[in-house]
Amino acid sequence: MQPAWIAPSILSADFARLGEEVRAVLSAGADVVHFDVMDNHYVPNLTIGPLVCEALRKHGIDAPIDVHLMVKPVDRIVPDFAKAGATFITFHPEASEHVDRTIGLIREHGCRPGLVFNPATPLSYLDYVLDKLDMVLLMSVNPGFGGQSFIPSALPKIRQVREMIDRSGRAIRLEVDGGIKTDNIEAVAAAGADTFVAGSAIFGAKDYAATIAAMRERIARAR
Ligand code: DX5
Ligand code: ZN
Repeated sequence: MQPAWIAPSILSADFARLGEEVRAVLSAGADVVHFDVMDNHYVPNLTIGPLVCEALRKHGIDAPIDVHLMVKPVDRIVPDFAKAGATFITFHPEASEHVDRTIGLIREHGCRPGLVFNPATPLSYLDYVLDKLDMVLLMSVNPGFGGQSFIPSALPKIRQVREMIDRSGRAIRLEVDGGIKTDNIEAVAAAGADTFVAGSAIFGAKDYAATIAAMRERIARAR
């Protein structure tokens, strides 16, 4: 299993002070910046694009940026995010006409591709493309908003993907996104996740470092 990564979702950050907020979570011990891109089309909300990603890089943020695309179509925006400094680019298979081509496009542009599964999306895509991915992202809420409750059916799904990744022998990250808090992160880790997105649980806390440390401690218990 790969080292655990905590990935604060900046969706719950104070956007008026975004650079400062990202610096603060990183110096509080976060490993990667989870960057939620919503288009008011694939999901019913509208957030941030490549310009903001580039602005974070220009602000001196050098941690990995994990761009979670909730947009349709996908391919048009991939080169822009690569240029803007994205590290991982993940997308929803329902939003792409040609999933294998989109994965290749992300790789060609020098980024690390990942596929995202909504709570009701079957894992069957992985039968054909797992070996081309650097990340599998399982949604434990329906995408579109921060602050929703964790959907428990994500847990058996995490276990299933853990087995698939272990069988593949490849260093593929297993990320889980939605409703993760200090009090359920242990179960998510025990099921086999190694990358933990948390938006409201971190940015809604007074003390980012204490929250991240408490999360890490629960993850360590599960491993
Ligand atoms: C939801 C986003 C999540 C969201 C998580 O569509 O993909 O990354 O920000 O927020 P919390 O942790 O508050 O559920
Ligand atoms: Zn996300």
